[in-house]
Amino acid sequence: MSKAIAGFSKLTKQEKINWIANEYFTNPAVAVSLLKKYWNNDENLQKLHDEFIENTITNFYLPLGVCPNFNINGREYTIPMAIEESSVVAAASKAAKFWAQRGGFKTMILGTEKIGQVHFIYKGDKQKLIAFFNTIKPKFFSETESITKNMQKRGGGITDIELRDKTESLDNYYQLHATFETKDSMGANFINSCLEQFSKTLKSEALQYTDFTEEEKNIETVMSILSNYVPNCVVRAEVSCPVADLNEGNNIDPQEFAEKFVTAVKIAEIEPFRAVTHNKGVMNGIDAVVVATGNDFRAVEAGVHAYASKNGTYSSLSHAKIENGIFTFWMDVPLALGTVGGLTTLHPLVKFSLEMLGNPTAKELMQIVAAAGLAQNFAALRSLTTTGIQQGHMKMHLMNILNQLEANESEKLQTVKHFEQNTVTHAAVVDFIKDLRKATASNIETDIL
Ligand code: MEV
Repeated sequence: MSKAIAGFSKLTKQEKINWIANEYFTNPAVAVSLLKKYWNNDENLQKLHDEFIENTITNFYLPLGVCPNFNINGREYTIPMAIEESSVVAAASKAAKFWAQRGGFKTMILGTEKIGQVHFIYKGDKQKLIAFFNTIKPKFFSETESITKNMQKRGGGITDIELRDKTESLDNYYQLHATFETKDSMGANFINSCLEQFSKTLKSEALQYTDFTEEEKNIETVMSILSNYVPNCVVRAEVSCPVADLNEGNNIDPQEFAEKFVTAVKIAEIEPFRAVTHNKGVMNGIDAVVVATGNDFRAVEAGVHAYASKNGTYSSLSHAKIENGIFTFWMDVPLALGTVGGLTTLHPLVKFSLEMLGNPTAKELMQIVAAAGLAQNFAALRSLTTTGIQQGHMKMHLMNILNQLEANESEKLQTVKHFEQNTVTHAAVVDFIKDLRKATASNIETDIL
């Protein structure tokens, strides 16, 4: 039986839910009741969430955790993180505390340039196109004035527009490559609106340009869209301390630890298989804060991984060295973030997160996010090069296993206590719970007898 449906988006929320429940679930009533369990009692709040996207049927929760003790450029932050992975918040918090006692995170903005392109096809004389572009370039600015006026008041706007010849890679393909300063907004809507106007200006001016032949006049714009690759919208985060101070929490000699750590980073610099996982650890921290602050984590992810490949091979985002007895660990990372517009003013928990961070500017948020990414990377490498990742990871994962086994509060307490001294594995937890339950059952039997 086909499950295709016409006009689904026109149905009411209840009708959509009923259709899904009846089509896909053996017990529709259970499915409906599950969806409703996640609705918010506050109707206005629920409506707000319903309207974020199309066809909303319920809310999908992610935990919002916090990492206190982040010292960034001498200022204390408690950083919000929205993430499902058990160990991330604990690891970042631990790293934050560790570095707070060693001078904290030092961060700086290296650039805030955003990019957008109009991709177009021009069949004709390249020199004529260059002359045309130079003649009409001021029009790109004047004809976007209504869009750029407010941004200019805030100190932003279009910073430059270039004509780029890409015909060596694709026949007749050129670009308007534009750069933007979008201040505290991420800028996607602003940039895309400017680009769509550039496209109109380009086409209409070409039609009137008397030096063009009829074919040359017919410029075909293929698309106008911002680029999520922002290699000049970059923030640096760094931590450093004397090697001798790297001595907390592991029974390993600080010099040995520092050298092993630097080698681990060097492996990620030269080995893409490791680099991807290494950078995934960075993104554990970055994405969690990006989500909590209502920013676009897909854009950030795409841009960061492109940046990690900028020298032709996918490589580590972070770097480490030991020089004159000082251990330094740092990272440059492209982050196109906003603290105004979009979800930042709509989602109550995003507003909460931003207020907790002191309502940062976009530049400040870039620095906070980068520090969270570096902290996470440090925590992962410290575990990997000392105890191994599973010890901490499985300790945090223990609660997930207990929830899967539907453990009650008393079982949870006893299991957590037991595994303070024992290695957590899925099988070991299952066995422990089985034994606990057997013991409880036989106690009950004895009581009855
Ligand atoms: C797991 O989410 C992240 C790590 O794999 C990162 C790393 O290997 O560096 C632990």
